Amino acid sequence: MDKKPVPTHVGIIMDGNGRWAKAHGVPRVMGHNAGMQSMKKIVIATSNMGIKYLTVYAFSTENWKRSTEEVSGIFNLIVKYVNSELEELDANNVHINIFGQYDMLPKASIDAIDKMVGRLADNEGLVFNIALNYGGRDEILRSVKQLCEDCRNGSRDPEDLTEDDISRYLWSGSANFNVPDPDLIIRTSGEERISNFLTWQSAYSELMFTDTLWPDFTPEEYAEMIDAYADRDRRFGGRKESGTK
Ligand code: IPE
Ligand code: IPE
Ligand code: MG
Repeated sequence: MDKKPVPTHVGIIMDGNGRWAKAHGVPRVMGHNAGMQSMKKIVIATSNMGIKYLTVYAFSTENWKRSTEEVSGIFNLIVKYVNSELEELDANNVHINIFGQYDMLPKASIDAIDKMVGRLADNEGLVFNIALNYGGRDEILRSVKQLCEDCRNGSRDPEDLTEDDISRYLWSGSANFNVPDPDLIIRTSGEERISNFLTWQSAYSELMFTDTLWPDFTPEEYAEMIDAYADRDRRFGGRKESGTK
């Protein structure tokens, strides 16, 4: 029997930590902590399923609107994550890219990220991208500015620009391993929107939603979604040569 195809790149909008905390009568930061535990398991599950790229939405350019307490709580968790997970990530041959400008985070978080990215730089297993202070529109704007600059200084001609050129200027295109567009984007917590995640790259992504809050999302539910992906009929605007669809 043929093995079902797995997506090459999965994106996950990890939503519902706040509602999970509320349901458990604990502070929101504890919801984020529970979300981080969930993320650890999903990273390893992704690697075990043979999926090459995973991008998680950890903090959006709009999430700065939240309270200072919540925002700094999330950034502190990054330090905690690196301290507790670096060895295991390395043992699993995981490579990490950060999508987003993280230089405005607290110094301890920046240092932790730099340490993690540096330590895992030569790994060639799962490419794990963390969208941190990431916004799809912000990413496109940054690319447009860079392209304009390159046209102004003569290294590029506007007439010759292609869609691939735009892709290359995004975080995903300029990162190591040249991350392809996501085949599948999953969002937890029952919200059915993209919220500025991989705006350019998601043009033809399959979307899946679940009511499960992110801290309750299990590798089993994830595996069911990956299984269901194989039955999606991706047409990219064309038609199948044979078949009835
Ligand atoms: C997602 O959970 C994590 C981040 C946005 C950082 P939320 O914090 O958005 O959880 P809800 O949507 O309030 O439940
Ligand atoms: C999207 O979730 C961002 C992350 C998961 C990091 P939000 O909770 O911020 O999105 P909205 O506000 O419900 O659209
Ligand atoms: Mg939310």
